[in-house]
Amino acid sequence: MTGDAVTRLRPLVDMDLPAAHALTAALRWPYRLEDWAFNLMLGEGLAAERGGRLIGTAMGWRYGPEAGTLGMVVVTDAAQGSGLGRALTAGVLDMLGKRSVTLHATAAGLPLYRKLGFAGLGLLRQHQGVAVAPASFVLPPGLQVPPLRAEDEPLLAALDRRALGMPRQALIRALLAIAEGVVLKREGEAIGFSLLRRFGHGELIGPVIAPDVEAAWALIAVWLGSHAGRFLRIDVPDEHGLSHRLVAHGLAEAGTGERMVRGVPPQGDGGVTSFALVSQALG
Ligand SMILES: CC(C)(COP(=O)(O)OP(=O)(O)OC[C@H]1O[C@@H](n2cnc3c(N)ncnc32)[C@H](O)[C@@H]1OP(=O)(O)O)[C@@H](O)C(=O)NCCC(=O)NCCS
Repeated sequence: MTGDAVTRLRPLVDMDLPAAHALTAALRWPYRLEDWAFNLMLGEGLAAERGGRLIGTAMGWRYGPEAGTLGMVVVTDAAQGSGLGRALTAGVLDMLGKRSVTLHATAAGLPLYRKLGFAGLGLLRQHQGVAVAPASFVLPPGLQVPPLRAEDEPLLAALDRRALGMPRQALIRALLAIAEGVVLKREGEAIGFSLLRRFGHGELIGPVIAPDVEAAWALIAVWLGSHAGRFLRIDVPDEHGLSHRLVAHGLAEAGTGERMVRGVPPQGDGGVTSFALVSQALG
């Protein structure tokens, strides 16, 4: 049911990207055309078309046979309230099959996702602003943060998988092609990493994968120092309590979202945790 007989749902393709970008620009979401293209390169989506115009989108990403994420759910103002958001989201859920699906919901999306069987897992905080370098940041003893090398990819993918409980090798590979990164090492052994890439209005820190909150802060502080005076964004789960430190370093809270899951939440195998997202769509 699409709420309109002449509304057609079909796969989202590269040629839709400028119109899709216009949908999120109308909402003042910061995605650039490149950010949309990155998402589509790694996933799949549905387009709602009426009279030759794109009026809605939804996308999904598969991380192995058991997990996935869903996002970029947008319906134009004029087309809202007639079942299109539900049809697009349900269509992407069909594409993702039996996978457990996580997403980050806006206030507008919450009622829809609840009706489709998603349950809340916790609050996400989006922080952004002009970065202020930490006044006197000293790495805890025994830790180093060397820049990452191309050959670190399998190591990073393994740490990411341990933290999130889902395999995201293709995502990590794609990120490494466009991101800078640092590895956190303790006595030569890699125990975490963080990446920074162009995204939206500036640059985005994420993912941040670390054994504990102090190590995560070290992996964030590196970027605050090297990118002081520049516009940075980071999306962090509330539960780790990083928000006050981010605010103190120029990254004000710009919004919140609700992390939700449909199915069994993917579980990392302990030891490392994800402290910042790649993006709200990609998880
Ligand atoms: C979220 C969004 C995609 C929903 O699109 P839509 O086409 O209006 O959604 P639908 O008409 O399919 O409605 C979905 C369901 O949510 C319900 N719903 C919507 N707003 C609601 C509200 N404020 N309170 C209770 N239920 C609500 C509808 O009644 C409907 O339920 P039903 O299918 O059982 O009747 C649309 O509002 C949008 O694009 N918002 C801006 C972008 C955004 O925030 N996207 C979500 C990203 S996570």
